[in-house]
Amino acid sequence: MRKETMMGRSYSVTARTLHWVTAIAVFAMIPVGVTMSYRGNVLNLWDGLTNALYSGHKLMGFLILWLTAGRLIYRLLHGAPPDEPTLKWWEKAASHLVHWLLYGLLLVVPVLGWIGVSLYPALGIFDLFNLPALTSPDEAAAQRVLGIHGKLALLLGALALMHIGAALFHHLIRRDGVLRRMLPGLR
Ligand code: HEM
Ligand code: HEM
Repeated sequence: MRKETMMGRSYSVTARTLHWVTAIAVFAMIPVGVTMSYRGNVLNLWDGLTNALYSGHKLMGFLILWLTAGRLIYRLLHGAPPDEPTLKWWEKAASHLVHWLLYGLLLVVPVLGWIGVSLYPALGIFDLFNLPALTSPDEAAAQRVLGIHGKLALLLGALALMHIGAALFHHLIRRDGVLRRMLPGLR
């Protein structure tokens, strides 16, 4: 990390890999979550596809939770490269705020999903195994927790879109080095 920071002010290979794997996983999770919940709750279509979407969503969300926990430990131990020097103080503050909100939601959203399926209970994954239960069953509480899960997931998606907008603004309009911190191969 230190060597890379001094060379190009970009994030380390580990930080970049964790960032891009998470970004792709979250972008897959949101449409899958909306589609499965629409098929199940609105169309009442509980066929093989709906069940597979639920299993895939739960499994991938569970993996995102542990990936984020590992990523946060790595981040706290290794830090980030110094901010892009051309940023104004409020741009640095706003980007740090959004980054920490993203980290927070990357933990809270899957934890609420896991608590929700524990309460329901609906812990099965592809009829192969069950996720560990975090609580005893309470279906009414499950509905409430999963409702909050869905809303916070959409907030995570909205913040990620703002974050991407900012990255593209820096790259295409400001033409500074912000996007290259996560994609050092860019020209
Ligand atoms: C970062 C990880 C996750 C993201 C981004 C995410 C996103 C979403 C989204 C967008 C919805 C649809 C909400 C709606 O249409 O109202 C949803 C629903 C759901 N999620 Fe997740 N989710 C994640 C992790 C998890 C985990 C770990 C579990 C369980 C282990 C889970 C279980 C569920 C369930 C059961 C629903 C359906 C709720 C219903 O039928 O009303 N999710 N999720
Ligand atoms: C769901 C999708 C995404 C999530 C959750 C996410 C999350 C994050 C987080 C938490 C950081 C802070 C890293 C740290 O300091 O430890 C970060 C940095 C960054 N992300 Fe993303 N990201 C996503 C998608 C993207 C995409 C698609 C782009 C590019 C178009 C992008 C570009 C960047 C850049 C350039 C940085 C470094 C900013 C800086 O430190 O100046 N991200 N991202």
